[in-house]
Amino acid sequence: MLVADTGKGAVELGPTLSIFDPVYIGIDEFGQPKRVPLIERNILIGGEPGSGKSGLLNGIVAHAALSLDCRLVLLDGKRVELGQWRKCAEEFVGQDIEQALVLLWRLQKMMDNRYDYLDACERRKIIPGDVFGPYLVAIDEIAYYSATVGDKTQREKFSMRLRDLVARGRAVGLIVAAATQRPSSDIIPTSLRDLFAWRFGGRCTNDSSSDIVLGHGWVAKGWSANTISPNNPGAGLLIAENGSPELVKVAYLDDRTCAAIAAYAATLRATAPASLERRKLRPVPVAAAA
Ligand SMILES: Nc1ncnc2c1ncn2[C@@H]1O[C@H](COP(=O)(O)OP(=O)(O)OP(=O)(O)O)[C@@H](O)[C@H]1O
Ligand SMILES: [Mg+2]
Repeated sequence: MLVADTGKGAVELGPTLSIFDPVYIGIDEFGQPKRVPLIERNILIGGEPGSGKSGLLNGIVAHAALSLDCRLVLLDGKRVELGQWRKCAEEFVGQDIEQALVLLWRLQKMMDNRYDYLDACERRKIIPGDVFGPYLVAIDEIAYYSATVGDKTQREKFSMRLRDLVARGRAVGLIVAAATQRPSSDIIPTSLRDLFAWRFGGRCTNDSSSDIVLGHGWVAKGWSANTISPNNPGAGLLIAENGSPELVKVAYLDDRTCAAIAAYAATLRATAPASLERRKLRPVPVAAAA
């Protein structure tokens, strides 16, 4: 519960979450709630068009938006999928590869500074209530930036910078949640894909796509996201803590619910005590990040 001290006593502003709490994803096949810790993790979300990827990403962003110990950075190739969270986000990048590149560059620099700090303090990773807070970097349609717009150099730079965030961000609180329809090697380098610890595979068109999303070999072991009905969006195979796929049905936030949560989260963020304010990403001249 977030409490404001008004000078005349404490006023409860409302409940909040923490990004150090496991994130509610939906229900498992026994109808039990499925929660997944995201701190110190990254998640790759794949599946055919309409399989429910953006739905899951919105659920994750909703948790992070309600977590006042977490800052949000959103990249959305469609603009409307994560657009409702704009007021809660420190940065929102739509259909602009240059802006996306600058943002990833700034995050890389922030990550370097955080490692300098940890090194100087002889520490190894972020803890709850740390002097620097976690960031959720949510990307809907990686393919838009890594394989569609801009020129080859820009697209490669995007994949390279994102790879660095996924590779080194864990210990300093950078969480990457990224969705794309089919993360094959022509869309993102396999060296980037293979770094994602957690995977969610919504329905896939065939077994080979399922293995690309979940990791090679799961089809041979009997786990294919092709077995999911096309009429069941949000159902998919989740690989998280127990290491092998589990069937889950993602909780869906419709437009009105998303808007309501986003408005509440934005108000909480705007009225949060100053002690919750952490140093923001500093703007940089575009030329420096080119
Ligand atoms: N968990 C869910 N439960 C029920 N319905 C869902 C769920 N997730 C998605 N849907 C329905 O499926 C539609 C498509 O979902 P969503 O936009 O998340 O798909 P997507 O995989 O992101 O598609 P695309 O690749 O085109 O972006 C939604 O508009 C919604 O109607
Ligand atoms: Mg989508």
